[in-house]
Amino acid sequence: MEQQEIRGVWSSKVGFIMAAAGSAVGLGNIWRFPYMTGMNGGAAFVVVYLLFVFLLGFPIMLNEFIVGRRTQRNPVGALENLAPSTSWKLVGGLGVLTGFGILAFYSVIASWTLGYIVKSIEWGWFNPIEIDKIEVVFNEFIHSPGEIIIYLIIFMLLTMAVVYGGVKNGIERWNKILMPILVGVLILMIIRAITLPGALAGISFYLKPDFSKINDRILIAALSQAFFSLSLGMGAMVTYGSYLSKKDNMINSALIVCSFDTLVAFLAGMAIFPAIFALGMAPTQGPHLVFVVLPIIFLKMPAGAIVGPLFFILLTIAALTSTVSLMEVVTAYFIDEKGWKRHYAVIMIGVCCTVFSILAACSMGILPQVTHLPLIQMSFFDVLDKTFSTYSLTIGALLLAIFVGWRWGLKPAIEEAQNGNKNFREKVILSIFSQEITFAKIWSVLLKYVTPIAIFILILDSLKPSENYQVIGYFTAFLIIETGALWLLIRWLADIKMNPGQIILVPIIRLLFLFILGPLLILIPYLGYLLAFILAIILNYVLITYLLKIPKTKIWNILALFTLFEFLGVIILLYFAFNI
Ligand code: PHE
Repeated sequence: MEQQEIRGVWSSKVGFIMAAAGSAVGLGNIWRFPYMTGMNGGAAFVVVYLLFVFLLGFPIMLNEFIVGRRTQRNPVGALENLAPSTSWKLVGGLGVLTGFGILAFYSVIASWTLGYIVKSIEWGWFNPIEIDKIEVVFNEFIHSPGEIIIYLIIFMLLTMAVVYGGVKNGIERWNKILMPILVGVLILMIIRAITLPGALAGISFYLKPDFSKINDRILIAALSQAFFSLSLGMGAMVTYGSYLSKKDNMINSALIVCSFDTLVAFLAGMAIFPAIFALGMAPTQGPHLVFVVLPIIFLKMPAGAIVGPLFFILLTIAALTSTVSLMEVVTAYFIDEKGWKRHYAVIMIGVCCTVFSILAACSMGILPQVTHLPLIQMSFFDVLDKTFSTYSLTIGALLLAIFVGWRWGLKPAIEEAQNGNKNFREKVILSIFSQEITFAKIWSVLLKYVTPIAIFILILDSLKPSENYQVIGYFTAFLIIETGALWLLIRWLADIKMNPGQIILVPIIRLLFLFILGPLLILIPYLGYLLAFILAIILNYVLITYLLKIPKTKIWNILALFTLFEFLGVIILLYFAFNI
């Protein structure tokens, strides 16, 4: 408790939720979500995104809160505290680096929104602009170094000022009134957008999924967008959780933050897509998308001259509460671990980051050297975005889930979450196989198995250079899923722990079974399924009795599930890896 008083705690439960939601809601929702949706096929992307937010994002957010509150440290200190003198603290280090990296490109877009406050006032009140000029003006704007750099510096100074003010004074206060207003303004914009003639095509692009569009590029894009939007995978939520008091209910907080963040993103899309289609524009134009579409909505809207500037003010503040959390992670690291004073840390980080941001801003066409970096032909901005949002965040989240699930242990984690929410471990929601399912159990399975496996597969999938590699990827994924699933089944159903040799051998042998079962399915139509099924039972029976030595009474349960798994495995592999 003493330590909490020195470091500062949130002044109220609502204050914490607001601060965490402030970190989550930002340009990720209003700028990145719509353009990612536009580039990745529309509604199908939205469906995958929603699935990832609740299946993967929510358990990971809770995980970060738990680690933060338990240790009351920044991500590096937190891991050092839970696993002293190990390399796990590098995971925290990756988070700190990622915070810096995201801040560097994020503030570029934030400076555009700042500039758009001024521009929308100008367009609304003094100097009306024609719709077809908006794109030209936007391009001129991002190509004028003087203007951009000034906004960038102003924005960075604002971020520094809030972080400098410290947790309680600075971070928490802003969000309480502003977030609800932001939602209100979005709703006004939606009303305008969906009543534009031709808006229906946009609504159907956004809401009517065409699942045949889903491919691996879309999956990783949705995953990284979910983590980016929820501020996960780099320790922002660890750091914010570290200022929580033991009485706070972290489970509810995580649920509220995830839902609110998703709501804002969803509303943003609802305002933008109908307008894009009504105006006959392409949804696939990337990062520029919302800056070209939004001003048009305001031009066409009654009282747009008021709503427009108000919207960009709110968006700038939403961006600010996110950049504050990015900078806070880096700052908390230098304060806790290196003993720096807060003001010194803020100034150093702010100045260094501004240098990178200016480079990123100039890579939108101002400086050819950074606009097309040699060899990779990408802009410096894109490199930062791709490295830090797509890979760092997902890898960071993956490693922290593995750390808690497999190294530190779910038991202490659940105990921590139990403080402030008694139902977590105690309330039985369901009973299957005489196993009592509680929220804590569901979370454990999600964190220990589902999230690491899913994230790993998605990352692997996104890296594949060739088709062959893809097949290897599917087999590896299969092996990993199998190992986890078998381990779980045997432990839960028969209460037997596999030894390391069995953990490795059993899935490999079962993988070999696939090569026997697969051809049966392909070569003998219809009957092949039956034969494969029978063969799978026999093979598994032998495996279970000889290798796992499971007591007689438990054999049938396990055999049935093993066989079912094997069978599903063959079908999935044939379908995905070989397109059969
Ligand atoms: N979640 C923020 C947004 O949506 C961005 C962010 C990412 C903030 C990662 C902190 C950490 O704008």
